[in-house]
Amino acid sequence: MKKTLGLIKQNLNLVDCVVEILDARVANSSRNPLVNDIIKDKPSVVCFNKSDLADDKANLVWKEFYRKQGKSFVLTDAQNGKNLKELINVIKREIDKSFEGKKRTNRRGRIMIVGIPNVGKSTLINRLVGRKACQTGNKPGVTKGKQWLRISNELELLDTPGVLWHKFDDEQTAINLAITGAIKDEILQIDELALKLIGILQENYLEAFCKRYSVDLEGLTALEAMETIGKKRGFLASGGFIDYDRVANMLLDEFRKGIITKVSLELPAI
Ligand code: G4P
Repeated sequence: MKKTLGLIKQNLNLVDCVVEILDARVANSSRNPLVNDIIKDKPSVVCFNKSDLADDKANLVWKEFYRKQGKSFVLTDAQNGKNLKELINVIKREIDKSFEGKKRTNRRGRIMIVGIPNVGKSTLINRLVGRKACQTGNKPGVTKGKQWLRISNELELLDTPGVLWHKFDDEQTAINLAITGAIKDEILQIDELALKLIGILQENYLEAFCKRYSVDLEGLTALEAMETIGKKRGFLASGGFIDYDRVANMLLDEFRKGIITKVSLELPAI
């Protein structure tokens, strides 16, 4: 952790602006609490990636939250390349602001991307530079020397993102990150995790949840809801019992792909 932090801080000295990437569905849980100390007063932009999977209303609540704090904020979908022009414009604005009244050299503005694993750093880098410069999906990559990847005539990007670590100050953070697939399912039993997800969907997205599986889940416990979905789908083990693991895997998989509905698990604390 110390070594990683040292490397990120070294790299930060080389750039004009930092882009902090969060997962829009779990904006608190995917934020490393040390990030403010790391970035300090370096110009920065908060990028809510995977916004295609998050609740549109919640995305707007977060946008307003950051606007009130005077922080640059952009919603992106790196997988489909959405809002990247806006992101680039916001980054340029941040860099211009930081040079106001100061002498500026002729070189391109330099940026670096930071975030915990799985928020979409590599996907975003590849999108911004228009080619596969970074490996996605947690595959082991080959470490190269520092390279600047050209985004445009005005901007370039450090090829190695700053990989921050997850924080696990509380159980809910770990659960949220496990539900979205950012950390391994082994943290909790798969069926326990699915029950937590069911509880969230019942509480906040009941209509869409029922519609997806063509069942009525109102007033049921999470376990009853799981059984109802299992029966409806015919997910039965020998002896006619519900195959809970199969239902759990299906629910988590469909949730992570955004098939059930667009869901945000966290809103700003008021
Ligand atoms: P990281 O560098 O921060 O660790 O994340 P990475 O880019 O590897 O992305 C993690 C997973 O999230 C990848 O899927 C990637 O395709 C997906 N992803 C990234 N940005 C978005 C986004 O804005 N929306 C959606 N829906 N998905 C996004 P994967 O299945 O793990 O890998 P792969 O098979 O796509 O390479």
